[in-house]
Amino acid sequence: MVEVSTSILSVKKGEESKTFFALEAAKTDYFHIDVMDGKFVEKDTYQTMLEYASYIRRISNAPLDVHLMVEDIKKAVDDFSAVEPNIITFHLEACKDEQEVMETINYIKQNNCKVGIAVKPNTSIEEVYQYLPYIHMCLVMTVEPGKGGQTYLSEMTEKVKTLKKYIDENQLEIDIEVDGGINLRTAPEVKKAGANILVAGTAILSAVDYKVIIDELKCPIGDVSFWDIYLLSLTSYITYYIIDIPRWLEMCCV
Ligand code: DX5
Ligand code: ZN
Repeated sequence: MVEVSTSILSVKKGEESKTFFALEAAKTDYFHIDVMDGKFVEKDTYQTMLEYASYIRRISNAPLDVHLMVEDIKKAVDDFSAVEPNIITFHLEACKDEQEVMETINYIKQNNCKVGIAVKPNTSIEEVYQYLPYIHMCLVMTVEPGKGGQTYLSEMTEKVKTLKKYIDENQLEIDIEVDGGINLRTAPEVKKAGANILVAGTAILSAVDYKVIIDELKCPIGDVSFWDIYLLSLTSYITYYIIDIPRWLEMCCV
């Protein structure tokens, strides 16, 4: 079964509450919380994400999928454990050695939380193999971490395939999450490669109807037609660019 984790990184300012309620109604499987510290990546979303996550925890029962793009993982685990996430994922690249990786895994587990490890596009997937027996999910970044709205890196499909093959051969039970540039065009490819949790931000938040796009992303491979993709993309562009014109004018006139 494929699940969808909606990244709220690019939620429009002033529309947060409305958007979170709509995502809950559209039955997103998870809310994906992108935590950035301004060091591991350039952007700093730390406080905003803490506020959003606390708010979502109050209005929704949907699990929180926390993606830490930070250097100080322990502090972030302490801070974000307060919102009772279902899973906390940290970056392999943020740890200095194997011991720190294992300590971090155990630290997250002590907080009654599932554990995920994320790998950046340039990190080889073999580096994560030794930790797989101890974690619940591996997040394959399909763009460079740091911002939403980027283009899917097609070389990552092979990486997902390799990971899936290793997981199956070793009879491990681990979710494969993909994050970055996932939309109706790229989703079939990653699902086919073996990913079972798709993170999507821009594709969902720019859609007219969240439920329609979430359902389409979850669709088993082969069930989405060319016309579905075409029509959904077209309507999304229209809403995103045309309906926003009054806002642009307002911004230009200030
Ligand atoms: C990138 C983040 C992603 C991102 C996904 O660093 O980890 O979660 O927001 O956004 P889209 O779907 O816009 O690529
Ligand atoms: Zn993310």
